[in-house]
Amino acid sequence: MVQSRGPSRYPEVDALRAAFPVTKHCTYLNHAAIAPLSGPVRAAMSKFVADSGVIFGRESRYEHISNDLRAVLAWLINAAPEEIAFVQNTGSGINIIANALPLQDGDNVIFCDIEFPSNVYPWMNLRRKGVEARCVPNDGGGLTIDALERYADARTRVVAASSVEFLTGFKNDLQELGIWCREHGAYFVVDAIQSLGAAPLDVQACQIDFLACGGPKWLMGPLGLGFIYCRHELLDDLAPPFAGSLSVVGWEDWRDYNFTFLPDARRFEIGTENLIGQVGLLAAVRFLMEAGIQAIERWTLHLTDLLIEDLQRRGYHIASNLEQKRRSAIVSFDVPGDVDKAFKKLTGAKVVVSKRERHIRVSPHCYNTEAEIARVGDILGNAH
Ligand SMILES: Cc1ncc(COP(=O)(O)O)c(C=O)c1O
Repeated sequence: MVQSRGPSRYPEVDALRAAFPVTKHCTYLNHAAIAPLSGPVRAAMSKFVADSGVIFGRESRYEHISNDLRAVLAWLINAAPEEIAFVQNTGSGINIIANALPLQDGDNVIFCDIEFPSNVYPWMNLRRKGVEARCVPNDGGGLTIDALERYADARTRVVAASSVEFLTGFKNDLQELGIWCREHGAYFVVDAIQSLGAAPLDVQACQIDFLACGGPKWLMGPLGLGFIYCRHELLDDLAPPFAGSLSVVGWEDWRDYNFTFLPDARRFEIGTENLIGQVGLLAAVRFLMEAGIQAIERWTLHLTDLLIEDLQRRGYHIASNLEQKRRSAIVSFDVPGDVDKAFKKLTGAKVVVSKRERHIRVSPHCYNTEAEIARVGDILGNAH
């Protein structure tokens, strides 16, 4: 188990850059979409494949991989390893949670109208049980206590929110939302994919009941692997919607058919795991821990500060909420006139960002530099 939260000093950006071959090809500022694989992640996965020979299956020699990954993910969010289960992606994690919760006809689930669909459709799909998916207007870019006070009622059983919203990078106040949920008897479910790896997150301090997170964005892991956190005290409230060969006690005794779910979050893992993915995600998280999550947050906020100042000076409208407590590593802005043209200009100059709705979204990570972030404004020029 890892003991410390990593060095507080930010390592040399140059040293971090050396781990990212992508820096030789382009200015990559698109981690809110997908992260490039670092050298250590690629090396770890290649080595695993090379060392494993032609066939590798569920063998005890690989057990440490899942155990280590469970431990580092738990450490990352201040949970216990027994509260972590591996899933394919955020959406599959939220589906498991939504369908495991003891919700009844007439209950409602609140989320705001800026959530990514992975945290919307699983709740809408509960309509068949008579559960209302209550999509409420976002308040300044996310979900606030004011909105909960306005739209929640005695039948609100779940509040679902992203730690950081995908469109404009609005940082939800998880601590405030967690307090509200606990006081009102609602489960608090968090989609953490847009912040985990780039900012600290503490499930205990924020009273988060369930969390789902895919690996390929800020955690910089390979595609197809994520995890859920499930607060231990709540395990007995849940009815796992799926059962498989690995979700039960004594699973090695294949034909005992002892249908007793494992006592921890592994009960949500249904069958053979994505071992290569686990090797990659483990290397990715260790890399971030080495850099220091708090230091990464400070650095990415510094880079986005520079970007905001530069774009404002050039006359662009920043779509992201600029209140300090709402800021994250994501900044979205608007261009007057043709956004597609501006987007193409950036892409043509090998600056990789996203176009989301009418905004251009920029999302630097730990290895990006001040010079790289300055390229956005330099290439676009002044707004008028
Ligand atoms: C807030 C949020 N949740 C989830 C996802 C991805 O969902 P999944 O991991 O299910 O593919 C994204 C991707 O853009 C996102 O921004």
